[in-house]
Amino acid sequence: MADSAGLGDPGFAVYVHWPFCLAKCPYCDFNSHVRATPPDEARFVAAFSREIAHRAALSPGRKVRSIFFGGGTPSLMAPRTVGAILDKIAKHWTLEPNAEITLEANPTSVEAGRFRGYQGAGVNRVSVGVQALNDADLRALGRRHSVAEAVAALETAKSIFPRMSFDLIYGRVGQSEAQWREELEKAMKLATEHVSLYQLTVEPETIFERLWQAGKLALPDEDLGRALWDTTQEIAEKHGMPGYETSNHARPGAESRHNLVYWRYGDYVGVGPGAHGRVLSGGKRRAQATEKHPEMWLAQVEIEGHGLIADDPLSQEEQSDEYLLMGLRLREGVDIHRYEAISGRRLARSQIESLAAEGFVTEQGGRIMVTPMGAPLLDTIVADLAA
Ligand SMILES: C[S@@+](CC[C@H](N)C(=O)[O-])C[C@H]1O[C@@H](n2cnc3c(N)ncnc32)[C@H](O)[C@@H]1O
Ligand code: SF4
Repeated sequence: MADSAGLGDPGFAVYVHWPFCLAKCPYCDFNSHVRATPPDEARFVAAFSREIAHRAALSPGRKVRSIFFGGGTPSLMAPRTVGAILDKIAKHWTLEPNAEITLEANPTSVEAGRFRGYQGAGVNRVSVGVQALNDADLRALGRRHSVAEAVAALETAKSIFPRMSFDLIYGRVGQSEAQWREELEKAMKLATEHVSLYQLTVEPETIFERLWQAGKLALPDEDLGRALWDTTQEIAEKHGMPGYETSNHARPGAESRHNLVYWRYGDYVGVGPGAHGRVLSGGKRRAQATEKHPEMWLAQVEIEGHGLIADDPLSQEEQSDEYLLMGLRLREGVDIHRYEAISGRRLARSQIESLAAEGFVTEQGGRIMVTPMGAPLLDTIVADLAA
């Protein structure tokens, strides 16, 4: 259930956002931007360095459990850029022994060609965005790689990094349960220790949203969506990678330590355009966010020494709501005592008991967990418990 880091200390992590992509995928609403000319990486390195120094001054003396390069497409960065950012993080904080250092990679052959360089720079885990194991669906998702290229990138990743994960999106247009079953069986044979399996969501202001509103995107209805989710849990579990979070599956002990810091409501600092953080600073837990637009972030950091546009103390109620929202995504659930310590109030027994009687949650060893039956109703369950 728990990873090797244990449940006691949720840990401290650093997120680094690289906001550029070669093309915008029609389903994606991440903070990713396409530029006609490649960004000036040296200028970005200088800005990341200043932002890291600034954040370390606000949260000094921390031990870093995990660093995650996310995007956008971090596998477009030169390995020396990644190395320079890692050096700055290690200079300002201490890395835990065996710190997890992950880089999100797109699976084109050019990017896989940089994997050795990332390993040399200190990266020890990659998360590869495969998305589909079917060329027609890759095209429909606007991806610029083929299945063969993705499989080759996974093989390269396995030969270079001690740890590897990849992402798939299911619930695609016209996808039947039988097709997904077959594809997921293939995927599980490619997996080593961790996979992220996301159900396609129609995000605001994406091309997929426009198509969907125009009735041109035949996505699974609620029943098929549920069946696809059940199949996902069954097959991943059969292959020894049970779901430890709504969309994440791992061999026990191989969970993403980075994501566990978020979901266990640990502290994390976010650097780069549009990065978020939650940190204890001056005795208060604060919500931090940076300027989203890449060049505006760059300009702000060059003038002010940081890209923060928000750095606000969170009320007890906000913190306890966040703890529930994050923690109940995990199979291990939330610690009732910790919830009560954060919120300063008791969880209503009557709420827990009525949700348990309906089969949506279970209570065990001082923790509350959402059951597979309750998983699709997570937001409602959180609202009920927080009320
Ligand atoms: C930051 S994104 C992408 C990282 C990398 N640029 C890539 O495309 O492979 C992380 C993951 O979120 C998932 N994702 C993005 N948009 C999604 C959506 N609308 N629905 C479901 N999953 C989505 C994809 O699986 C993707 O790999
Ligand atoms: S899915 Fe990945 S490659 Fe596509 S736009 Fe989003 S971040 Fe960029």
